Amino acid sequence: MVKELTMLRWAVLAGFVAIGMAASAQTTSLKDAYQGCFLVGAALNVSEFTGQKNGALITSQFNSISPENVLKWEIVHPKPDTYDFSLADKYVEFGLKNHMEVVGHNLVWHSQTPKWVFEDEKGDPVTREVLLRRMRDHIHTVVGRYKGKIKEWDVVNEALDEDGTMRMSPWRKIIGPDYIQYAYQYAHEADPKAQLNYNDYNLENEAKRGGALKLIELAKKRGVPIQAVGLQDHFDMEWAPVSQLSDTISAFAKLGVKVMITELDVDVLPKATKQQTSDVSVNVAADPKLNPYTNGLPDEIQQQLATRYADLFSTYAKHCGEVTRVTFWGVTDADSWKNGWPIKGRTNYPLLFDRDAKPKPAFEAVIQAAPKNK
Ligand code: GLA
Repeated sequence: MVKELTMLRWAVLAGFVAIGMAASAQTTSLKDAYQGCFLVGAALNVSEFTGQKNGALITSQFNSISPENVLKWEIVHPKPDTYDFSLADKYVEFGLKNHMEVVGHNLVWHSQTPKWVFEDEKGDPVTREVLLRRMRDHIHTVVGRYKGKIKEWDVVNEALDEDGTMRMSPWRKIIGPDYIQYAYQYAHEADPKAQLNYNDYNLENEAKRGGALKLIELAKKRGVPIQAVGLQDHFDMEWAPVSQLSDTISAFAKLGVKVMITELDVDVLPKATKQQTSDVSVNVAADPKLNPYTNGLPDEIQQQLATRYADLFSTYAKHCGEVTRVTFWGVTDADSWKNGWPIKGRTNYPLLFDRDAKPKPAFEAVIQAAPKNK
């Protein structure tokens, strides 16, 4: 009898614990779990910030947003005398209405920038003076429009090569290495209160990180207003190792800049390139061997992804305060760019929410990795 009663008590207690856990999993959000540590954001596509898709999920989970494409040069400034802010305005409005930190991405990049920017009417390269003037007009018009609304800007995106030297982009070729300095100066003039970021991928690798550290040190010496570095963190299951990630965050924090994780996702598919890269111009031929999970992600890989995400968030949380924002590049697996890059038409699973916008085991693992849940 006593034994039966004890067992009954255990069963009741286990029931309460199970109900409690289910409730906490449902009610806990990413933004609340990491409150006091860093903001948690997501990059949104048009159907998301116009309220057609994932609206409740986005507003309940995230307190910061980034625009997947609508603030890129080719969209806001497609022709020399044409600016088109119709989508960008809606993006900013969505963020402000929902009291989110609105990020601007990006101003000066070699990709998704129309050719006319670098050419004259004959198709020849423009002079340094002309390109600087075009850069200034663009930055003043775009940053000026959202002054006080967009709180931080990725001003220069991906200026470095893998060896840490400057990428020979049209910006670098035509203007010279000081194009970076001018870009930050113009952005600062247009909105002196906005936080200005330098954003790049593979900064966890020593050579490229060295280049970025130099770039920021030099900027500080010259009084160029760069206040934060953005680690894109397009990762896979092994790369970047968390020790390398942690060292990278510390190295930038030591220079006195904030560290933002700006484009996080974890690729679970077999590697399609020899080198670790997130260069959007890479295009690899389709091969069924490189697309093994078209009918769903096996449980084993699902669990490995959860562990990988727990390790990443434990590392970010170790740097609370140095890391001030962690943004996922997308909301659900259905919309991730990783389904189309570097091979078109694959089925990838890089985010915390599945194709039906339901939380994956990786979501719960991220919640559990928060300092307050440990
Ligand atoms: C880079 C850019 C982003 C986006 C991703 C891929 O990381 O910074 O704007 O284009 O590639 O979608």
